[in-house]
Amino acid sequence: MSVRVAVIYYSATGNVHQLAKAVAEGAASRDAEVRLRRVHELAPDTAVDANPAWRAHVDSTKNEVQEATLEDLEWATAYAFGTPTRFGNVTSQLKQFIDLTGGLWQAGVFHNKPATSFTSAMNRHGGQESTILSMNNVLYHWGCVIVPPGYTDPLLFAAGGNPYGTSWASGGGETPDEATLEAARYQGRHLADIAERLRMS
Ligand SMILES: Cc1cc2nc3c(=O)[nH]c(=O)nc-3n(C[C@H](O)[C@H](O)[C@H](O)COP(=O)(O)O)c2cc1C
Repeated sequence: MSVRVAVIYYSATGNVHQLAKAVAEGAASRDAEVRLRRVHELAPDTAVDANPAWRAHVDSTKNEVQEATLEDLEWATAYAFGTPTRFGNVTSQLKQFIDLTGGLWQAGVFHNKPATSFTSAMNRHGGQESTILSMNNVLYHWGCVIVPPGYTDPLLFAAGGNPYGTSWASGGGETPDEATLEAARYQGRHLADIAERLRMS
């Protein structure tokens, strides 16, 4: 049985989507089976339509990326969660998905599975770390083994050196640069490697 990684994310305007794809690529490069999944959009069309970038992203990913289901969480032996920051916290869209997992939590589905988190915020100091830490609160409750990138590879410094998880500052609408995508790929590889070590132990 190989390592099975679920990369589950929310993205309104595409930044976290790009990071999620890079994390998935990184895990796949270690021969993990990978599912890239977006969580269900909860915002009303009026809100989405008011932001052309949001509408464009919703439309372009509708058929490109499958929606996450609870079965993806049961299937996976490792998790990567991505969310943009919302006032330093996890988006309601990802949180809603997480809040459906009570039954899986009760059944111990998450126990001892490695998990990691990544994010994007507009500002360089706009709450990336608090968002990842908020996401990781869930992982403690699930009994996961939290896998941060730390400073385990020099390439992380080129992406801002965030030891909590890959994070991007999207500023005025820039998309993640290559150094950040490389850090995200590394995070995926690192997660798959740790999952493999746990599987063998
Ligand atoms: C309601 C709301 C709250 C936000 N809060 C913050 C914030 O606290 N700090 C920040 O830097 N950016 C904040 N942002 C900006 C997004 O986190 C940022 O644009 C992110 O890169 C978007 O990721 P996405 O393209 O994957 O949707 C907020 C955006 C919205 C809509």
